[in-house]
Amino acid sequence: MTNEELMAEAKKAREHAYAPYSHFQVGAALLTKSGKLYHGCNIENAAYSPSNCAERTAFFKAVYDGEREFERIAIAGGPAGKEAEEPCAPCGVCRQVMMEFCDPDDFQIILADGKGGCLQRSLRELLPLGFGPKNLA
Ligand code: THU
Repeated sequence: MTNEELMAEAKKAREHAYAPYSHFQVGAALLTKSGKLYHGCNIENAAYSPSNCAERTAFFKAVYDGEREFERIAIAGGPAGKEAEEPCAPCGVCRQVMMEFCDPDDFQIILADGKGGCLQRSLRELLPLGFGPKNLA
């Protein structure tokens, strides 16, 4: 699956967003090493802090299913009513969740580049000196 195809899946996932407070809708498409695809959307809450990002929704669905090896995630986010063409970088909490399950030099994060294409960064690039399971081994 190309990055562009994965981004198209993230855009589909974005249609499921529940974001009545921020009106910022995000979708994510997470590809496992075995080739399975998990979609996620942001799910907000009237108490605000229980809100969940699209990336974590996708990861938690996959982890529940027993998946432990991940290849790539595409993220599409932006204000409701607009196409998600600008980069929507994962928040720090989501980067930390990725760090739990992914090799930071291997796992790739795909974002819109603002020009109709995609940009790609490793988790290491987005979370330098990250703390993960290997630090506790
Ligand atoms: N959000 C995500 O779901 N993923 C991101 O990468 C950035 C932010 C959500 C959280 C909240 O529901 C809304 O976008 C505004 O921050």
